[in-house]
Amino acid sequence: MSTKARVFSAIVSQSILLALLSSFVTGENQDFVRSLDRKLYGLKKEKLTHFRVYWHDIYSAPNPTAMPIVRPPSNTSATLFGSISMIDDPLTEKPELSSKLIGRAQGFYGSAGQEETALLMAMNFVFLQGKYNGSTISILGRNQVFSKVREMPVIGGSGLFRFARGYAQASTHSFDLKSGDAVVEYNVYVLHY
Ligand SMILES: *[C@@H]1O[C@H](CO)[C@@H](O)[C@H](O)[C@H]1NC(C)=O
Ligand SMILES: *[C@@H]1O[C@H](CO)[C@@H](O)[C@H](O)[C@H]1NC(C)=O
Repeated sequence: MSTKARVFSAIVSQSILLALLSSFVTGENQDFVRSLDRKLYGLKKEKLTHFRVYWHDIYSAPNPTAMPIVRPPSNTSATLFGSISMIDDPLTEKPELSSKLIGRAQGFYGSAGQEETALLMAMNFVFLQGKYNGSTISILGRNQVFSKVREMPVIGGSGLFRFARGYAQASTHSFDLKSGDAVVEYNVYVLHY
């Protein structure tokens, strides 16, 4: 091989190596992913919204909104550990069930504490009024129902609540020990766009 040819072949193999390396580093071939301008998606200014609703958990006839779907596996657990209820609870503007319907809380909760009553709450609030109609927020958290104020994280949302994060504070307004019916005030603080 002449010197010229050797230099040429070295340059060629080097550039192949460089091309391979750079496609690896920049992820050139990954066209399923791209960055976007958040302004084009209406994500301009993050705002803080507070709303207060009353959550109605109704076990009594004729129109229950909460249903036990898993009975407590042990009948000796004071906290009913392991039991689960599915809910589709009305969210109203005032403590009275007959007041304006703002939305519904759909999901489930289960007794997750063996020593003290602490529920795992997993529910979506779907709004049914005005510009929020159809938008949702998702709440996932620990609810020590016998404490005065319980705080649970808002872990996301949809519609007007896309990218939502925040927290909800729940306090019991009324509780009927016999039927299990409860009205709980929810104050929700959400950051969203
Ligand atoms: C509790 O559970 C045990 C075992 O399943 C059963 O034998 C007993 O009758 C139950 N007691 C009550 C009060 O339901
Ligand atoms: C909310 O949206 C649903 C479905 O689009 C519609 O049927 C309903 O009338 C709306 N409610 C209000 C109060 O705008």
